[in-house]
Amino acid sequence: MKTNSSASSSTPRHKKAVLHSFHLKKMQSKVCSPDDVTVLIKIFGVLLLLLVLVISVATYQQIWSSHEDRISYRPPPANLMHNMSDEQLFRHALSVSRMKDKYRSGGSRKIAFMFLTAQRMHLTPLWDQYFEGHEGLYSIYIHSEQGDYALNSVFYRRQIPSRKVSEKSSFSAIDAARRLLANALLDLSNERFVLLSETCIPLYNYSFTYDYLINSKLSFVEAFDEPGPGARGRYSPKLAPELSLSQWRKGAPWFEVHRTVAVAIVNDTELYAKFDRLRDEMNLQHEHYFPSLLTLRAERLIANRSVTWESWKSGAFEPEIFELEDTTRRLLEKINMEKKCVYDDKPSTVCFLFARRFGQSSLWPLLKLASSLGFASHESS
Ligand SMILES: *[C@@H]1O[C@H](CO)[C@@H](O)[C@H](O)[C@H]1NC(C)=O
Ligand SMILES: *[C@@H]1O[C@H](CO)[C@@H](O)[C@H](O)[C@H]1NC(C)=O
Ligand SMILES: *[C@@H]1O[C@H](CO)[C@@H](O)[C@H](O)[C@H]1NC(C)=O
Ligand SMILES: *[C@@H]1O[C@H](CO)[C@@H](O)[C@H](O)[C@H]1NC(C)=O
Repeated sequence: MKTNSSASSSTPRHKKAVLHSFHLKKMQSKVCSPDDVTVLIKIFGVLLLLLVLVISVATYQQIWSSHEDRISYRPPPANLMHNMSDEQLFRHALSVSRMKDKYRSGGSRKIAFMFLTAQRMHLTPLWDQYFEGHEGLYSIYIHSEQGDYALNSVFYRRQIPSRKVSEKSSFSAIDAARRLLANALLDLSNERFVLLSETCIPLYNYSFTYDYLINSKLSFVEAFDEPGPGARGRYSPKLAPELSLSQWRKGAPWFEVHRTVAVAIVNDTELYAKFDRLRDEMNLQHEHYFPSLLTLRAERLIANRSVTWESWKSGAFEPEIFELEDTTRRLLEKINMEKKCVYDDKPSTVCFLFARRFGQSSLWPLLKLASSLGFASHESS
C-alpha cells in the first residue's frame, strides 16, 4: 500500500524536475551574449586583484611575524659579555619581555639562579652536583669579577658585565641585583629568578626545588613592617610622595620572583631615583628597596616571605655564618622544622629551599651530606 502511493506521486514530481532543467538550459544560452562576457571578464579581473591583494598581505604578515619570532626565539648568547650601558640593558630587557607576552616560547621553562657575590664562589662543587642532570631547566648568572671557573662547572663563563659591589654602599647591591635581573630577562625561557649569595646552599634536590618555584602562584619576597629603629625607624620622609611610611617595608634581599615581578623591578625608575638620591644618608637600602617597591607595585603577587633561610642572633649585625664544625645534618634538618608557612593557599611544612651563610670550610661536610639532601653525584649518574 505504501509503495503504491509513493509510486503514484513520483510521476508529477519527475515532470517538474525535467521542466526546471529545461528552463536552466534556456537561461545559460542567454548569459552567453557578448555584453555579459565583458561583465564576466570584469568580475573575474576584480576577483583576481582581490586574490593578489590577500596573498600579498598574508606573505607580508608572515615575513613580519617570522622576523619577530626570530628575535623572540633567538637562543640566549653563550657569551654573557656585552657593552650595553645599564640604561640600554634595561630598555632591551623590557622590550624583549614585551615580545614574550606576544609569543610564548614553546621550549622548557627555566629558573634563573642569580648569584650576587662579594667574593669568588667557594661552594661550586656542591652546586655543580645539584644541577647535574637537569640541563635545560636552569640558567646561571654571577655578579662577580673574580677569575674564571672550571670548564666543566655550571659557573663557567656565567659572569655578567658589571661593577664591583662596594661594602660601604648598600645601594651598589641594589644595582647589582637589578643588573642580574635585566641580564637574566634577556633569555626568554627564564620564568623564575632567584637571587642568592656565594654563601647559599640548596636544601632540596633540583626537581623538588624546580616544581616548588615553577608552580607557585606567588613570588617569594620577604616584606614586613615593624616598629623600632631597625625597621620603621629607618624610613626617611624624603622618600615621600613616592613612598609613604605606611608603604615602607623591610626584608632580606634574597628574593625569588616571577617574570612579571622581575619586569616590574627592572622597569622602576621613580623609586630607584629616590633611593639613589639618598644613597649617602641612608643605610642598608638593599633591605628596603625591593620589599617596599614590590609592596607598592605588586602587593598581591608576593608572599611576604623568603625561601632563603638565615639565622640572626639577637643584637648581631650580620646573619650567623656556619663553618666545618657547625655544618651538621641536624642543622640542615631543623631549618624547615622551625617554621610553618603557606604555599599556594595551603599550609606547608617546606618554607625554605635554600640556606645561608655557609663558609669556605663547610664545603667538606656539605659534600658528605649531599646524598642525604638527594643530589649526590652517584644519584644522577
Ligand atoms: C666592547 O667594546 C670594545 C671596544 O669598544 C670591543 O673591543 C669589545 O669587543 C666589545 N665587546 C663586546 C662583547 O661587544
Ligand atoms: C627529591 O626530593 C623530594 C623531597 O625530599 C623527594 O620526594 C624526591 O624523591 C627526590 N627526588 C629525587 C630524584 O631524589
Ligand atoms: C613600565 O612602567 C611604565 C610606567 O612607569 C608603564 O607605562 C609601562 O607599561 C611599564 N612597562 C612594562 C614593560 O611593564
Ligand atoms: C603581603 O603583605 C601585604 C601588605 O603589605 C598584603 O596586602 C598581602 O595580602 C600580603 N600577602 C600575603 C600572601 O599574605
